[in-house]
Amino acid sequence: MALRWKPLSVEELATFAKRKGFVYRNSEIYGGLAGVYDYGWLGVEMRRRIINAWWDAFVTRRKDMIGIDGATISARKVWEASGHTTSFTDPIVQDLVTKKYYRADHLVEDALGIPTDGLSLEELDRLIREHDVKSPEGNPLGRVSTFNLMFPLTLGAMQAEPNAYLRGETAQIIFINFKNILDTGRVKLPFGIAQVGRAYRNEISPRDWLFRQREFTQMEIEYFYNPKEDFPLFTRDYADRELPFLFAKAQEVGRPAEMVRVGRLVDEGMLNPVHAYWLVEAWDWFISLGIREEKLRVREHTREELSHYSRATVDIEYEYPFGFKELFGLADRGSYDLEQHSKASGVSMHVTLPSGEKIIPRVIEPSFGFDRLFMSLLAEAVHEDEKGNTILRFKPHIAPYEAAVFPLLSNKPELVETATRVFHQLLDEGFTVFYDQSGSIGRRYARQDEAGTPYCLTIDFQTLEDDTLTIRDRDTKEQERIPIRDLPLILREKLRAKRK
Ligand code: GLY
Repeated sequence: MALRWKPLSVEELATFAKRKGFVYRNSEIYGGLAGVYDYGWLGVEMRRRIINAWWDAFVTRRKDMIGIDGATISARKVWEASGHTTSFTDPIVQDLVTKKYYRADHLVEDALGIPTDGLSLEELDRLIREHDVKSPEGNPLGRVSTFNLMFPLTLGAMQAEPNAYLRGETAQIIFINFKNILDTGRVKLPFGIAQVGRAYRNEISPRDWLFRQREFTQMEIEYFYNPKEDFPLFTRDYADRELPFLFAKAQEVGRPAEMVRVGRLVDEGMLNPVHAYWLVEAWDWFISLGIREEKLRVREHTREELSHYSRATVDIEYEYPFGFKELFGLADRGSYDLEQHSKASGVSMHVTLPSGEKIIPRVIEPSFGFDRLFMSLLAEAVHEDEKGNTILRFKPHIAPYEAAVFPLLSNKPELVETATRVFHQLLDEGFTVFYDQSGSIGRRYARQDEAGTPYCLTIDFQTLEDDTLTIRDRDTKEQERIPIRDLPLILREKLRAKRK
């Protein structure tokens, strides 16, 4: 049966995700809390598997990477030293009638249909005046100013001033542990420190479902290197890759992305080899998860939009239902953070090279937004068959479940018993499996198609005679009868093939 990709709007994605149990609105019974979401019973399984796939690819399988898992609260001094308490801001503007605040760049983008990444406060202000941009309620707007995104905390009793912050990025917890890693991790440049965890930003107008949230999950790497040394991982294969690239200059004059050889970006000095290497690594990982190449592009940040810590940033953008936007950020943070923390704490963050020379290493930061990735994977997966049934075509390693096991009928104890045995057998073999005996077998298949489960295994009356079961393929709906004895082998092989 032929399956077609079905593009959904962001509202349709959110509705579907809620109905199936992927993502719920936080505090929904009290009217919801803007920009905060909870992962549901299918979402949590998929979340774990995506994070496992990331950890496996970028930590477990690499000899040059180790991980940490830091707290989400850290001392005020951390965020003062990193510059976040002063520079981590968004442009805001007030509705002069309702007194409500909005993101100035979003209002301009929505009203004029132009990208606003990197526009200065003055430019936003000028565009608002020139084009008489109004608030969503149709009221005049005040002057554009800045708003700090950090969430201050007052830890302990009777504390008047903030003495801590919720982390605005996971990255800082890596930098403040750099010395601990050097002392305990037996690392040698170049090496990376990886972390997955929640971060918090007081977004003034959270929007586009999981895209812009106040609490979200980052999967970040800080990759430290000595700029004076060659970087052999950036091989010819990496240099010869061609990627669709939107230059900062092209954005100024409205030109589209063009195919560019990654080696050219290095030759022209736009990216150093470490930066270019991580661009290709991330791109390939997204493709391995099932994102179509034509839905991705690379975009260079304009000078104005660079974060306060970055010397150069390129994003990998995905074409969401609302257009191309960031999925992954790749900043060259230089030695900014380690130097700031060395100065502010008095603890030197230098590395001693084998020659005895002491250097503060430079860092490239591959930063993956988990929730944006989740949204892209869901958007990519939604397909429809000729009858209008929904099938989520997740790659097996990130689907909530790899297989589902059903007894044909739930009121036949022999079938239930055998199905339970098969369920446990597969769990013991390390598969992620779901068990379901409720409703008609047709409904159960349809439910698994909508959850993206690649294979359904049904125990029927013939199973009781010859110890075989049927295995049904989510994408072709074809069924095969196979011996239970061979099930782990066959299932593993099928999952591997579908992952390609
Ligand atoms: N660490 C990069 C970011 O949070 O955007």
